[in-house]
Amino acid sequence: MKRHLISAGDLTRDDAVLILDTAEEMARVADRPVKKLPTLRGRTVVNLFFEDSTRTRISFEAAAKRLSADVINFSAKGSSVSKGESLKDTALTLEAMGADAVVIRHHDSGAPHRLATSGWIGGSVVNAGDGTHEHPTQALLDAFTMRRRLTGGEGHDLSGRRVTLVGDILHSRVARSNVRLLSTLGAHVTLVAPPTLVPVGVEAWPCEVSYALDPVLATSDAVMMLRVQRERMKAAYFPTEREYARRYGLDGERMARMPEHAVVMHPGPMNRGMEITAEVADSPRCTAVEQVTNGVSIRMAVLYLLLGGSEPAVTTVPAARTEESNPS
Ligand code: NCD
Repeated sequence: MKRHLISAGDLTRDDAVLILDTAEEMARVADRPVKKLPTLRGRTVVNLFFEDSTRTRISFEAAAKRLSADVINFSAKGSSVSKGESLKDTALTLEAMGADAVVIRHHDSGAPHRLATSGWIGGSVVNAGDGTHEHPTQALLDAFTMRRRLTGGEGHDLSGRRVTLVGDILHSRVARSNVRLLSTLGAHVTLVAPPTLVPVGVEAWPCEVSYALDPVLATSDAVMMLRVQRERMKAAYFPTEREYARRYGLDGERMARMPEHAVVMHPGPMNRGMEITAEVADSPRCTAVEQVTNGVSIRMAVLYLLLGGSEPAVTTVPAARTEESNPS
């Protein structure tokens, strides 16, 4: 694996399957009475958040703490960034504090890449979402959730599974990372959006595009609904919210047309009543809450593989062995 995780495209199929399998080990730790591993004791993880976040920030924090790392949370609000301090000076400060990993969320696409290639810091850089570019750990936790629900789990990829991503593709870093990772894992991806929310150059992406949702429902194993990102919109991309919901929203009637085994996914935060109805969001077929739980295991796996590497992640105590946790 590379030293940094900036894009889902940084991962080979073997890297991705290794992360998913390591996350399965991490998930088993969550079922133990003591949920903490000593693996990253003495290492420092900095969460550097220039953009608002609920799930992703607390998920990285929980992951680092469960691995016993020291965690420093930095948010741009209330820091010297609001006094105009540059990314470079912020990075140099973190380096001076001995950060082993920097998890960065930034409103500018490319900021994590800049941090990783600038030489300002010596540790690993993990992209926690940059502008409309990428959000690789979200794609990994989505793949983990799909693998658990749709395949035999550990050791598997997503070969032949049909995944449909619906909504504001144009502004979605989740969509970009998912298209890359899902194609690496052998899944077949279809994007569904109004023409105004389909990015220029999509022909070069490894996926198909449909302007209508209804025709693809019956053949989807997973339907991932994306939030309409009003904060990134500087123009009107569709006539009214009602019209958008009518054509591209997932309601109970549409969900009933999906195959029985198929799941509904959403990275959060959800606009209930817009891209998804409350009935669908709260149904057992919707994995939104499960995705959040799985996110901690995925981020533990990523931090462990980038920082810990060669030591076994989970030391098994013989007395605690069960058939399930030790298939060998
Ligand atoms: C996504 C993000 O921030 O890109 N959310 C998340 O990380 N859980 C998607 C979104 O904001 O709609």
